[in-house]
Amino acid sequence: MPSAPQPHEPSVSRMAAADLAVRYGGTVPRYTSYPTAPHFHAGIDAKAYAGWLAALPDGQRVSLYVHVPFCEKLCWYCGCQTRVVNRHGPIAHYLDTLLTETSHVAAAIGRRLTADAVHLGGGTPNILTAEDLDRLFGALRAHFALSPQAEIAAELDPRTLTRDWVEAAARNGLNRASLGIQDCDPVVQKAINRSQPFAQSRQAARWLREAGVASVNLDLMYGLPHQSVAGIVATVDQVLELAPDRIALFGYAHVPWMKAHQNLLPQEALPGPAERFAQQDAAAVRLEAAGYVRIGLDHFAAPHDPMAQALRQGGLHRNFQGYTTDEADALIGLGPSSIGRLPQGYVQSIATTRDWAAAVEAAGLPVARGYALTAEDRLRAEIIEALMCALTVDLVEICGRHDAHPGVLQADLLRLCPLEADGLVIRRDGRIWVTEAGRPFVRHVCAAFDACLDRSADRPVRHSAGV
Ligand SMILES: C[S@@+](CC[C@H](N)C(=O)[O-])C[C@H]1O[C@@H](n2cnc3c(N)ncnc32)[C@H](O)[C@@H]1O
Ligand code: SF4
Repeated sequence: MPSAPQPHEPSVSRMAAADLAVRYGGTVPRYTSYPTAPHFHAGIDAKAYAGWLAALPDGQRVSLYVHVPFCEKLCWYCGCQTRVVNRHGPIAHYLDTLLTETSHVAAAIGRRLTADAVHLGGGTPNILTAEDLDRLFGALRAHFALSPQAEIAAELDPRTLTRDWVEAAARNGLNRASLGIQDCDPVVQKAINRSQPFAQSRQAARWLREAGVASVNLDLMYGLPHQSVAGIVATVDQVLELAPDRIALFGYAHVPWMKAHQNLLPQEALPGPAERFAQQDAAAVRLEAAGYVRIGLDHFAAPHDPMAQALRQGGLHRNFQGYTTDEADALIGLGPSSIGRLPQGYVQSIATTRDWAAAVEAAGLPVARGYALTAEDRLRAEIIEALMCALTVDLVEICGRHDAHPGVLQADLLRLCPLEADGLVIRRDGRIWVTEAGRPFVRHVCAAFDACLDRSADRPVRHSAGV
């Protein structure tokens, strides 16, 4: 008699999906915005951004994103905008510049708006000292009224986190922290240049909880060198011990043409599309068996977590950090490479810290590029966000609200036909559902509605693997 299936064993339909993984293994955007960042252009400059900021209505609620572009050591898989520094000098200079940038932005707005969310991302925000944090939040509070219920979140590296930092951040209102873990297996950790004994992660989670940080989130990855299904399941089991409120399970984005250090990874040990699919599937099965609610493409939330509630109530959104419960339609980016979104469109800051600082010091807003949204972009952005978040979209309802003729989507619907034939989507009465088998391929479903995507074989913009 065959033995009972283990929770991480793929079901028959999942094995069929592994075949799809090979066929849909091509590259697609991550759709953290529509249009995606490669379509931003220099036509949106500091003057345009200043106009957009000045036009924000008095009652506008905003969210703030602060990018901290430094780490102590480079992980070889890293796709983030960061660089290694081993002294405080460049960090102190960056912080001075960041405070100047914040005052330029506030001056362009011309009023003290209320912020409902602050997100510190990176790089590694805990590379700032406790005093740096106090200065940063002092400046943010001087220029924006942080609402008492504001979500204040930070991406943290457990390897370098200190109790002092956690206490300083908690004093400044930190209430959600994401700890980078990736994988607990020392063989994988060696291959990615990230040695991280589990005791460090456990201690980081304990410090955060002891300091009253309400929500502890973890980042895991699949698709890294030497990862296997059994290894990922072991990592998931180990991190469940920390009772995380949320887990992000990111597929490794291999983009060595943008991040040359990724060539340092042992390329022969990178899993292919079918193995990547099996890894994310096994982790998902394990997390769901442990009671986590699956959110969109790559997130899992405990049922009590606001993200699980947002999914139930239709309040889940997607921004440059991934899935979010943030409802604000104005996100102001601070720091090099940060991306903001205002009602008029997107704006991205200069990516290198040196050029960003020079632009700020020249008394300007350090804008590199941006994008002004058209009516059709807004329609497509809403369709893509609905698919990424809720895995369903009512095209008739959305077209009605955008005053658009559904005929504008004719070519997009044709592009959906192969996905429908493969059982990844169902279409009925102007509504689209992404099936459970289609969930890992939801970016491909979104790509059907992407009017900017270059579909030629020799396209100039390359993206990361589709699964
Ligand atoms: C800013 S880092 C987190 C904080 C801290 N720097 C750390 O690594 O612990 C954000 C997360 O992005 C994810 N990440 C980084 N590079 C990636 C890549 N190439 N593909 C997919 N996810 C990646 C990792 O899960 C990482 O924890
Ligand atoms: S993954 Fe985190 S710690 Fe590692 S290099 Fe990237 S930003 Fe820095």
